[in-house]
Amino acid sequence: MDDLRDKYITAIAEAADEAALEQLRVAAVGKKGEISLKMRELGKMTPEERQVMGPRLNALKDEINAALAARKTALADAALEERLKGEWLDVTLPARPRRQGSIHPVSQVWEECTAIFADMGFAVAEGPQIEDDWYNFDALNIPSHHPARAEMDTFYMHRAEGDNRAPHVLRTHTSPVQIRSMQAQGAPIRIIAPGRVYRADYDQTHTPMFHQIEGLAIDRDISMANLKWVLEEFFSVFFGTSVKTRFRASHFPFTEPSAEVDIQCSWQGGQVKVGEGDDWLEVLGSGMVHPKVLEAGGIDPNEWQGFAFGMGIDRIAMLKYGIPDLRAFFDSDLRWLRHFGFPGLDVPTLHGGLNR
Ligand code: PHE
Repeated sequence: MDDLRDKYITAIAEAADEAALEQLRVAAVGKKGEISLKMRELGKMTPEERQVMGPRLNALKDEINAALAARKTALADAALEERLKGEWLDVTLPARPRRQGSIHPVSQVWEECTAIFADMGFAVAEGPQIEDDWYNFDALNIPSHHPARAEMDTFYMHRAEGDNRAPHVLRTHTSPVQIRSMQAQGAPIRIIAPGRVYRADYDQTHTPMFHQIEGLAIDRDISMANLKWVLEEFFSVFFGTSVKTRFRASHFPFTEPSAEVDIQCSWQGGQVKVGEGDDWLEVLGSGMVHPKVLEAGGIDPNEWQGFAFGMGIDRIAMLKYGIPDLRAFFDSDLRWLRHFGFPGLDVPTLHGGLNR
């Protein structure tokens, strides 16, 4: 009995893996195992012998089963330990810039604009790109037969046959977000709405999808002077140099008065430089929000007034980063993306500096 015990307890303690353990289990306590066969012999013993041997054999069987279970747990723990060592990773290491992938200049400039306007107290608002034509036109004082609808080169969504509701459109500008924000939060308001817009137009300076950033500030005493300050402040921070603006009288159905805004620039050797020289470049449309637009947004025009503007993100990205062709933005040419893209970990912030 003692030999049997020593043999198995030692072998179990030394078993290298689960398969070896299983073999030992079968050899010792399996149906035809050594201990099991010994137990069968109990029947041939005298009652006195059996009284001694029975409990001893049972105890040995229990001891072996317990040793098997213990070794099994120990092996599993060791395997886990081994795996953890292999999968070890130092989360305190600084991140490495990835060699592939970069932030598109449009995304970069979008984030830069957001950071600058956020610093001036503007929150970011959003609206759908597939827009109800009421939001895209009517609510902005562009009724059904207004020529501005035709001028916009609108993409209309298909309606099912027999469905006579006005069609949805791909929004032609970010201005519908003005209405949605007014309805959602009432006055006062200070928001920007960057986003994609769509017009059926394609040439060197137009792509059917492009990006705008809408601005809207409504309060009791907001004026064109506030608009001018906000824009000059924006451009100066954005371009990293003081930038003069020129307001030209213009017309938009949703603002009164309306102004197109140019920024000061110079042309030298085919290169534009913003913030110097005697030339001007048009970069946005703006004005005081039309009373009818305030009404459509559920805001009382006798109590509230404000300015709005809409600026092309792609346009100012080209100006800031010296990108010559608008269409290249959307070609997904890897060489172009590597050249004009930005490192993914370089999130634009005012405190980090926007003009590196
Ligand atoms: N929505 C106009 C456009 O796309 C720009 C604009 C916005 C003009 C807000 C005035 C006020 O051309």
